[in-house]
Amino acid sequence: MSTNRILLVYAHRDPGASRVNRALLDAAASLSNVTVHNLTARYPDLRIDTEHEQRLLLEHDTIVLQFPFYWYSTPAILKEWQDAVLAYGFAYGENGDKLHGKKLMIATTTGGPAEAYEAGGYNQFTLSELLRPLQATANLAGMSYEPIFAVSGVRMLDEAALDRAATAYRARLVAF
Ligand SMILES: Cc1cc2nc3c(=O)[nH]c(=O)nc-3n(C[C@H](O)[C@H](O)[C@H](O)COP(=O)(O)O)c2cc1C
Repeated sequence: MSTNRILLVYAHRDPGASRVNRALLDAAASLSNVTVHNLTARYPDLRIDTEHEQRLLLEHDTIVLQFPFYWYSTPAILKEWQDAVLAYGFAYGENGDKLHGKKLMIATTTGGPAEAYEAGGYNQFTLSELLRPLQATANLAGMSYEPIFAVSGVRMLDEAALDRAATAYRARLVAF
């Protein structure tokens, strides 16, 4: 069986200040088939190198978008990455089949606890509902949309719970 090459596209506004995403990232980085790609470190000015990013996508089988949930959505740099990289003729449109058959997984962390992301809960909508634009994007690009990996209620998370979350994340990546 050939190795599943995983590209982990990481977006955080201030990676140096991260606690939860950093723990997840460290767990993922211990896997030899995972390429960790820190967008903020690479593009502090948000000027995305489209060709480089497309080449990275072509070189991998599974794409993981990892980010803290900001305003019920992705950090701005990840939206910019989508706008620049998922271009006509690459991700959609004529000859836009370059991502067909690849897997896409969203890995996100939320301040709100899990029950806040239930219908009728504090935020009214589930994470799956709020992340529909990324699901629709995967669909348009012919990618298989994998179940979301989420760590919720991050402020209440003690070190043991954070360790468990990181271990679970690593296991999800190993299972690809
Ligand atoms: C600008 C900003 C917007 C945020 N918006 C949300 C939000 O909409 N929903 C939520 O549950 N948490 C929200 N949070 C909390 C972050 O998701 C939380 O701080 C993050 O997941 C922690 O991860 P880290 O330790 O890697 O920084 C927001 C935080 C910031 C800084």
